[in-house]
Amino acid sequence: MTANCNKAIKAKSKAAAKKTTAKKSTKAAAKKASKKVVKLAIKKPRPSARPWGQAGRALDGVRILDFTHVQSGPTCTQLLAFMGADVIKVERPGTGDITRGQLRDVKGADSLYFTMLNGSKRSITIDSKHPKGKEILDRLVRQCDVLVENFAPGALDRLGLNFEHIHKLNPRMIVASVKGFGPGPYEDCKVYENVAQCAGGSASTTGFRDGPPLVTGAQIGDSGTGLHLALGIVAALYQRGRTGRGQKVLCAMQDGVLNLARVKLRDQQRLAHGPLTEYSQHGEGIAFGASVPRAGNDSGGGQPGWILKCKGYESDPDAYIYFITQAPVWGAICDVIGKPEWKTDPDYATPNARLPRLRYIFATVEQWTMTKTKFEAMDILNKLDIPCGPILSMKELAHEPSLRATGTVVEVDHPTRGTYLTVGNPIKLSDSPADVRRSPLLGEHTDEVLRDVLRYSDKEIGDVKASGAISAPEKKAEAA
Ligand code: COA
Repeated sequence: MTANCNKAIKAKSKAAAKKTTAKKSTKAAAKKASKKVVKLAIKKPRPSARPWGQAGRALDGVRILDFTHVQSGPTCTQLLAFMGADVIKVERPGTGDITRGQLRDVKGADSLYFTMLNGSKRSITIDSKHPKGKEILDRLVRQCDVLVENFAPGALDRLGLNFEHIHKLNPRMIVASVKGFGPGPYEDCKVYENVAQCAGGSASTTGFRDGPPLVTGAQIGDSGTGLHLALGIVAALYQRGRTGRGQKVLCAMQDGVLNLARVKLRDQQRLAHGPLTEYSQHGEGIAFGASVPRAGNDSGGGQPGWILKCKGYESDPDAYIYFITQAPVWGAICDVIGKPEWKTDPDYATPNARLPRLRYIFATVEQWTMTKTKFEAMDILNKLDIPCGPILSMKELAHEPSLRATGTVVEVDHPTRGTYLTVGNPIKLSDSPADVRRSPLLGEHTDEVLRDVLRYSDKEIGDVKASGAISAPEKKAEAA
């Protein structure tokens, strides 16, 4: 063999060795990658083969320590309970959530205020300021996924349940709070529904231009903020799936209301560039001031609308319909109200031409709606794709069969008040049927939670009872 040949063989074998190493490392990398894929595959379960609605509930396995009271917090935890979470409501022994006794309609029974906001939950009574009570709470913190509260600012800290303490006991715990205001000048204030509606911009933009600010019947401050909080909790639970740790979730009622009044902040900025042409005051020739005015029943979008009388309005306060003069169906509107000439009349044919005449146009449409009941008008207008909506009373909604059929209005049975109506889960999940049950009696599940969740023995339960941490103080002590 020549030297050259030897060199060539050496080079060849070196290259072969390199190739083998490369092959090996590619193989190793492929193996690693396939392991990763397997790992990822393990994280993503295969689609369930169970029939829809029989694969459990969306929040099965989530346990919530519920310190909420009145409306905002309870709205949030009730929704989570409807979706399958195990909600354990902690209440003060003897009295419980203050709403149990507020606006009572049936003597001796929990009020509808309470029962309609606390369905599908369990109730445990604990004196949270009692040393033994604190011990129970610490154990509950270890067993739960989310703590929800809407105490006055600082109250949770005063109970010793600050985030650091909770996080030390259970790093996975999500601590969710409703407060009236976020950090700022009003952060220490106690806040109720209408305060939030006023501070969040809703009241200044609700009502008629020549009248005072108005609050709305929809509880956008309380229930609206509860909804925001529920979304924050679900997002935090999702993130915890990746990070393994909980976090704080805060919803201020002022922020929640402002979020719902977002279109009015839109209009505030539009004001800098000219009048709000879709507001009827523009058509009436009334100048705009520096802030968004109250718009009466003007529609919030770009399509003018108003509330119009229907047949029977003289005796029925709800015989009205909301009518929208949507541009694409203007021709159909003209025909149905008997004004076909408006289709081509330059004063009426285009949306811009109509703006200064809206008041007259709605008065003319009203001459037609007054000849029909709101339901007759709905039937006629819906067929023509003309957007409209009857003003439905609570009485009508309570009896509406379609709302019963979908579980939006639910009748539940209660041991002390008999059957009552409640609003079920307005969010419909196709694989997680809503779990709507009656509200618990005060402390109904105290023993059950101590035994099944906290694994207290019968003796320990006896000791807890004797300590006074879960029962109301003696009558004598109460009087003093
Ligand atoms: N055991 C012992 N003490 C308890 C208890 C229990 N199980 N549950 C509550 N308490 C105590 C609290 O620790 C607090 O004590 P503290 O004042 O010594 O700290 C006290 O009861 C009162 O709580 P608080 O939240 O101040 O109730 P409130 O009736 O005075 O105020 C609100 C009610 C709603 C105005 C107030 O809670 C608040 O502003 N919450 C935040 C905003 C909100 O959600 N508002 C809408 C309500 S729908």
